Amino acid sequence: MKGSSVTVSEIVKQYGAVTAVDGVSVDVQPGEFLSLLGPSGSGKTTLLMMIAGFELPSSGVIRVGATDVTHVAPNKRNIGMVFQKYALFPHMSVRENISFPLRMRKAPKAEIHRRVGEAIDLVHLGSYGDRKPSQLSGGQQQRVALARALVFEPPVLLMDEPLGALDKKLREQLQIEIKTLQQRLGVTVIFVTHDQEEALTMSDRIAVMDDGRVAQIGAPSDLYANPSTPFVAEFIGKMNFLVVDYLGEGPAGSEVRLHDTASFTVARRPGETARFSEGARLVAAVRPESITVRKRGTGAPEGVSGTVATSIYLGTHQTLLVDLDGREGPPIHVQLPVSHGSQTFARGETVDLSFRPEAIHLFARGTDQ
Ligand SMILES: Nc1ncnc2c1ncn2[C@@H]1O[C@H](COP(=O)(O)OP(=O)(O)OP(=O)(O)O)[C@@H](O)[C@H]1O
Ligand SMILES: [Mg+2]
Repeated sequence: MKGSSVTVSEIVKQYGAVTAVDGVSVDVQPGEFLSLLGPSGSGKTTLLMMIAGFELPSSGVIRVGATDVTHVAPNKRNIGMVFQKYALFPHMSVRENISFPLRMRKAPKAEIHRRVGEAIDLVHLGSYGDRKPSQLSGGQQQRVALARALVFEPPVLLMDEPLGALDKKLREQLQIEIKTLQQRLGVTVIFVTHDQEEALTMSDRIAVMDDGRVAQIGAPSDLYANPSTPFVAEFIGKMNFLVVDYLGEGPAGSEVRLHDTASFTVARRPGETARFSEGARLVAAVRPESITVRKRGTGAPEGVSGTVATSIYLGTHQTLLVDLDGREGPPIHVQLPVSHGSQTFARGETVDLSFRPEAIHLFARGTDQ
């Protein structure tokens, strides 16, 4: 089995007045694992259904390899599909369910027997071939669905929240199984999820969807370190947002003011020039792990000070919620590594915060949200 590329060009899908998908273009590489990640209603399923052929785009083109499949029937696209609800045939045994796509394709009996055997082994269901779906656990049923989608060796596999109905532990186990299988088979996977951790674990690249559009596409580490909008910043990982005033460019970076007595510097990205006009209201985004904390009075005072409102010990790290002095709004999330002898902070303690200048992102206010 070898993966095919999937090229989605300027796809739009309208249902009456609703634009479910609003001009999406994505190039999926052969053998790539791409996740579509986004909130409910952002168009993930609709996009997947158009790639599978169950929905016709209002406009745009879909290619698998070099072939334009935009108007090709689903069963002629050679694409495997796994849904959230396992969608197994209840009256058929595991073996019959898995052999179904091959029987539809009128494959020779001996070949069906061999391939079904291989597919059952692939998903570790060797001794379950004669059971009915109702006699299987949720995880086992989803493995049957996966085997059924892979049995005809499609170069492309589409999965719509395939693990959504499973509990956390089983979900994590199947994430690793699916990823391992995908890498071994070399199949191209497009995987829909609204769970960012799942997307980070499994994907070569993630397309973050917002309101029918791709807000940003990139490797997990890329999206985490360089979100292009506040929406992406908030959707991938945890992020603090601070409303600040832009003072101008200094030697070390952009200077911003949080309030009268608190200001800090944001490092310029390589090649970046002044992007904002002086006095502009901006949003500074800071990750919890990019903040350092000192007890008040244990060094030169820093500009940003606050009081620990909540302190949570989590084994490998400590989470603090800090109310900033002179500022309304939600507390700042801070994540500190905990190691032998590291300082801990208690509720009510007054602290100074500093932000790593190269870890802060500035956005114009109102950018996309
Ligand atoms: N058949 C339909 N008729 C009308 N509107 C539809 C139809 N299917 C989807 N929509 C609308 O299109 C938008 C995108 O829906 P879609 O199911 O693609 O979202 P999703 O990202 O998969 O969400 P979820 O995470 O909840 O599954 C929604 O506003 C939805 O109400
Ligand atoms: Mg959906």
